[in-house]
Amino acid sequence: MFSSLKTKWKVNTTQFILILCTFAVTGSLTAWISRQIPGWIGFTDTTPFVYKLILRLIVLIFGYQVIILGVSLLFGQFPFFWNYEKKILKSIFKIKFPQKETNIVQVAIFASGGGSNAQQIINYFRHSSQIKIALIVSNKLDTGVLSIAQRENIPSIVIDKPTFFEKSDYIELLQTKKIAFIVLAGFLWKIPTSILQAYPEKIINIHPALLPKFGGKGMYGIKVHEAVKLAGEKTTGITIHLVDDQYDHGKTLFQAFITIHSDDSPENIAKKVLELEHQHFPSVIESYILKTNT
Ligand code: GRF
Repeated sequence: MFSSLKTKWKVNTTQFILILCTFAVTGSLTAWISRQIPGWIGFTDTTPFVYKLILRLIVLIFGYQVIILGVSLLFGQFPFFWNYEKKILKSIFKIKFPQKETNIVQVAIFASGGGSNAQQIINYFRHSSQIKIALIVSNKLDTGVLSIAQRENIPSIVIDKPTFFEKSDYIELLQTKKIAFIVLAGFLWKIPTSILQAYPEKIINIHPALLPKFGGKGMYGIKVHEAVKLAGEKTTGITIHLVDDQYDHGKTLFQAFITIHSDDSPENIAKKVLELEHQHFPSVIESYILKTNT
């Protein structure tokens, strides 16, 4: 029984003993205070019994929760008991405590275009207590994604080619900002080896076709859908994948498909594929990050 409690509380043996001591001392102290308190506040033998009973119950039920925090300080177990109290307050009074920033996985979105995917991702994680879009990175000054960052109050940076490819300044910046994952949402530059090494299997890209077909250098935007149409494909879709040192090449995490009709133009296909991206990209990012980050 003790070992299952230790596992449940995620504590070692010493901490477990100190926690039990906290409970024992708190129990005795609360019982003693509940007997003394009527006298301390001036209740006498003539005070109706029901008043004394209510007072003792208040001390036993609510006083206990406060006393345990004080006693836990003596045994060096305050963090454990504060978490325990927070759980009680959350479940009884529905009080919400702010999540520690350090527990939140911080994500940077790299994008060069309009940023419709970036917007979907931001919307999806807006109230998440586990994942936060903490930075937008763009290689173009005048682009939709930077307006989104400004509107959404998300820090953004514009990167320049020589620094991105030849120096490690941006890696340091990402690390200082505690970025744990990078999402490429329409980012056209190849990711340099230095960043790949700093973020192994932590960079996710979306491609608007079913890789390995219709990917690689120069395959972006409408060109992808024109190539799909020209090849007479009956289906196309999206590929969400990890980024490696080749264009559109890393491990596939997810694919979704649409049917191409004979009268579909490349623009039509692009529209349907973009809808598919919006529908799936945020949730695939979420499940990959939560799975990987445990
Ligand atoms: C998307 O089609 C994505 O697949 C590709 O770039 C495009 C970005 O579109 N990598 P948006 O800027 O998110 O609207």
